[in-house]
Parts: sequence; structure tokens; C-alpha cells
Amino acid sequence: MTAVKAAARGTDHDGRMSTRVLLIQGHPDPAGGHLGHALADAYATGARQAGHEVRTLAVTELDFPLLRSQKDWSEGALPPALEPAQQAIRWANHLVFFFPLWLGGMPALLKGFLEQVARPGFAFDVEKGNPLGKKLLTGRSARLVVTMGMPSLVYRYYFRAHSLKALERNILGFVGIAPVHETLIGMVEAMDDKARAKWLERMRELGRQAA
Ligand SMILES: Cc1cc2nc3c(=O)[nH]c(=O)nc-3n(C[C@H](O)[C@H](O)[C@H](O)COP(=O)(O)O)c2cc1C
Repeated sequence: MTAVKAAARGTDHDGRMSTRVLLIQGHPDPAGGHLGHALADAYATGARQAGHEVRTLAVTELDFPLLRSQKDWSEGALPPALEPAQQAIRWANHLVFFFPLWLGGMPALLKGFLEQVARPGFAFDVEKGNPLGKKLLTGRSARLVVTMGMPSLVYRYYFRAHSLKALERNILGFVGIAPVHETLIGMVEAMDDKARAKWLERMRELGRQAA
């Protein structure tokens, strides 16, 4: 762990490093029950076992409209349902996003959530002489846990994981969230119980490490 990252994290009463972890469930299906939900539960279990603080947020449970204009973005009020989301992001020092790959990228609901939440004044500030603005969410790392129908190697090497790069660089990196790690889980429709159990254990382990 880097010194900057370590400094951003606290210690529990036994002096162990503990992290404030926010799990953001980006699956649009309000019914739940998908692999992404089981992965998030496993991550939370591991993280809590290791003494990390865990909060969860399900985008599908939040009632918010799509953002319609730059004016609304910079001058309008945040939809009230998203205020707890901004508070949770401010609280966390590690964010874990879970979502299925839809048409090569994150589902529109998650993108709509990020457009609303990552507003000037919260995620970044306009700064004179700095065309990129001032990043306001530094001191936070992230992991993307993405399920997909195709083999993950095809997405990573043939499609070059283009949409994840956009998320990492143009959204998370733009507001200061780094480093961002990825867990890509392919061929989910054909996954057998053994492979599923292996992925759930991998998530518990990442949770224990808050990585
Ligand atoms: C609208 C839609 C678009 C999808 N697009 C892709 C895609 O571009 N690439 C891919 O590998 N899988 C794609 N899939 C498959 C999902 O990624 C896969 O079903 C999901 O990761 C796992 O299923 P879950 O929804 O049960 O969690 C798509 C599924 C849907 C419903």
C-alpha cells in the first residue's frame, strides 16, 4: 500500500489498517439475484470479516432523472435522492463498482447516476489556468467488477476494454479517484457452480484486503 493510500485509511481498535469501503451496485434490475449481487455480497462479507467499514448503495433503488443540460449540471440542484450517495462517496476511501457489461459499456442507469453525482463543486472544481479542473475526490481508490457474456480476454485484448478505460480515465481519474483496478468476469451465462464458487471466494479475498 502506498503511503498516501495508507494515510487515507484508519486503524481499528486493534491497530489494524481499516478502510471505508463503498459498494456501488450498478445492475439496473431491481429484482436483484444476479451474479453481480452475489459478488457484492461476498466482497462485503470479506471486508467486514477483516474489520473494514462497509456501506452499500444500489443505483436501481434511487429515484433520479437523467441529466439534461450543462446548466443543470453546474447550477441546478442535485436530485434529493442522490444526496446520500454523494455523502457516501465523500465518506469512502475505496469504491467498488459492480455492473454487467451492456452494449460494450456500463448500463445507462449507472452512467446516468454518475452524470448526476459527479457535479462541479462536489467531484471537481473549475480552476483558473487548469483546463482539467481541480480534482475533489482524491485519496480514494476503486475497483470495477464487471460481468459479461463474452470471454473476458476477448473484451480486454480484442476490444481493448475501451469503455472501462473511459470510466477509469474520463470519469474516475478526472475527479481524482486512483488507482482503479478491474475484475472482469466473462462467459457468465455458461458459468458452472465450481467457477461461481471460485469467483465468490476471490471476492471475499478482495474484500478482506479492501482492494
Ligand atoms: C442489454 C444487454 C446488453 C449486453 N451487452 C453485452 C456486451 O456488449 N458484451 C457482453 O459480453 N455481454 C453483454 N451482455 C450480457 C451481459 O453482460 C451478461 O448477461 C451479464 O454480465 C450477466 O448477467 P446478469 O445480468 O445476470 O448479471 C448484454 C446483456 C444485456 C441485457
